[in-house]
Amino acid sequence: MNTILGIETSCDECSASIVRYHPATQGTPTRVEVVSLATFSQIQIHKPYGGVVPEIASRNHLESINPMIDKALQDAGIRPGDPESVGTIDAIAVTNRPGLVGALLVGVSAAKAMAYALGKPLVPVHHLEGHAVSVFLDREPDEGDLPLPLLLAIVSGGHTNLYVMKAPPELWPLDFLKRSLVGRSRDDAAGEAFDKTAKLLGFPYPGGVWIDKTAKHGGNPRAFELPRALPQKATYDFSFSGLKTAVALTAQKLQSSGELDRRLPDLCASIQEAIVDALLSKIYLAARNYGCRSVAIVGGVAANSRLRGRLESEWEKHGFAMPPQFPKMTYCTDNAAMIAAAGAFRFRQGHVLRGTDLMTLNAVANPEI
Ligand code: KG4
Ligand code: ZN
Repeated sequence: MNTILGIETSCDECSASIVRYHPATQGTPTRVEVVSLATFSQIQIHKPYGGVVPEIASRNHLESINPMIDKALQDAGIRPGDPESVGTIDAIAVTNRPGLVGALLVGVSAAKAMAYALGKPLVPVHHLEGHAVSVFLDREPDEGDLPLPLLLAIVSGGHTNLYVMKAPPELWPLDFLKRSLVGRSRDDAAGEAFDKTAKLLGFPYPGGVWIDKTAKHGGNPRAFELPRALPQKATYDFSFSGLKTAVALTAQKLQSSGELDRRLPDLCASIQEAIVDALLSKIYLAARNYGCRSVAIVGGVAANSRLRGRLESEWEKHGFAMPPQFPKMTYCTDNAAMIAAAGAFRFRQGHVLRGTDLMTLNAVANPEI
């Protein structure tokens, strides 16, 4: 069993978490137990600007990083000021790429200082690797392992990527984000498509959740015909930029006839359906062609109720051996528990920095993988 502290500050969530990693033993699957999770979300701070302001994000991370780390430690029964108690942590994992560089640097600096002072290994984690393993957090032992190959979709505000995973997460190679990728968005990410179209309709940032909520007020998903890009093409890639233009035109027409407010639920349901259709059609195509036996959707958009609902009613038809796997709601959006989990697997594989070497770790805004 390993105890890992995770730190995440790549965008607008300042988060720290303690997880316990129980490696598989005979008859018991791998378990990553979230012992504590403390997150300060800056969403309210950035709302008036309609998006995340990097400079403001860094300053707020600086203020909240120590309180979040202390809270995560305390909630896990670790005394922050007591070196012996904090010494029970085996390693410190931190998101160092990709993200807003000033925001990343706050978490990276805090993690470096702590690891160096405590003489503990430091584990650099790719933010997407955190999302990828979020589905394994707090799984019950009786839920068992996911049958392989696993089709993994990372669907967030910055990415829409499809991966085919042929091994369990503790064996994923360092470059799996590059090696296992089979499809991605050629322009906007799915979350970005939700946010940009929501902004056109006057909803606050981040808009995905508002589209989801408004569609639930009796919205008809077939009310408006909106484009689905690359439908018949033999590709697992996505394209969402055309949707924004179509929504802008539709909204303009409704506005000039004075119908926009009344038709908002219908329009939101139609936007949501266009994005969900695009995601599911490529997920099913990839799953069929790669013989995938399970499917997991992670990232902010995995919180979408229509995406969950449709996949939950359609998975059997598409040859999966078990129902679709989604992270628990708190692990869909950015959080440090997923970073600690990815760090736990890397720690086991020996991908760590120690002693003065750990001082070389830097934040990388746009790494190659
Ligand atoms: O993973 P995440 O927290 O941050 C990134 O790494 O991007 O994802 C944020 C994205 C935003 O675009 C947000 O609008 C979207 O997830 N999102 C949703 C829902 N909840 C969050 N999109 C659709 N429906 C939701 N319920
Ligand atoms: Zn994220």
